[in-house]
Amino acid sequence: MKLEGKSVLITGAASGIGRAASLLFADEGAKLTLLDIDGEVENTAKQARERGADAVSLKADVSKSGDWEKAVKLAVGKYRRLDVLYNDAGIGMYRPFLETTEEDWDRVLDIDLKSVYLGCRSVIPEMLKQGGGVIVNTASEIGISGARNYAAYCAAKGGVVQITRALALEFGDKNIRVNCLCPGVTLTPMLELGISRAQDPAARRRYLEEEVPLKRIGKPEEIANGALFLASDDSSFMNGATLVIDGGATA
Ligand SMILES: NC(=O)c1ccc[n+]([C@@H]2O[C@H](COP(=O)([O-])OP(=O)(O)OC[C@H]3O[C@@H](n4cnc5c(N)ncnc54)[C@H](O)[C@@H]3O)[C@@H](O)[C@H]2O)c1
Repeated sequence: MKLEGKSVLITGAASGIGRAASLLFADEGAKLTLLDIDGEVENTAKQARERGADAVSLKADVSKSGDWEKAVKLAVGKYRRLDVLYNDAGIGMYRPFLETTEEDWDRVLDIDLKSVYLGCRSVIPEMLKQGGGVIVNTASEIGISGARNYAAYCAAKGGVVQITRALALEFGDKNIRVNCLCPGVTLTPMLELGISRAQDPAARRRYLEEEVPLKRIGKPEEIANGALFLASDDSSFMNGATLVIDGGATA
């Protein structure tokens, strides 16, 4: 098993990619601390336990530093160490730039980017104490390329790519690897919400499929496989990298 005995903290574990990764990591032997602002996260923990894994959940907000303190305390208190942080939680925001309010901007930047700063700041001292660790951040294909009507989201996810590189350089010699996952369009509640809000949802869905060279939308499990690769020793010489899983959309 690729994560046998590893203490892993996953954010955004109630839904979509984070939920799929939690169950995959459970099957790979991880001891899980699962965090989400949505209380449904306990259901994911329950399913992980039913698969034989150790798993606890915490209802918490990744944009609040006090919640991060609680999360790290829970993980280290229960498993005595913290080997992997997988920052998955995030929100999307499709909004024309001139309609993007200061409040919208702050919300996206807080949840999608500040959360990564707070999470890394909270776990790195533990990783330094124990002699190393692994961080997997979540950006997006549109953290690399741009997208119309997504200015705040693109700015946040571009920031995630860059904080990943900065931390990889700063902590590589301390045996802490920091990498970043860039999913493309993936069928999760976040994407389904976006599709349902379109003027013509069926046409929007066809457009999204058509834009991908593989002519389909990705599945959460296909992104979770990439997260497992980055979290495990299979990627032991990767640091500061962006792993793009988008069916070829950014190619
Ligand atoms: N689905 C896609 O097409 C796609 C594409 C590129 C990148 N991503 C990224 O992948 C990640 C997961 O997205 P998903 O598609 O699985 O979405 P999702 O909405 O299914 O899951 C996101 C989870 O994050 C949680 N969350 C939101 N705000 C939070 C907060 N403040 N504190 C704690 N938890 C919070 C939500 O409750 C939810 O459970 C996100 O970072 C997203 O930006 C998704």
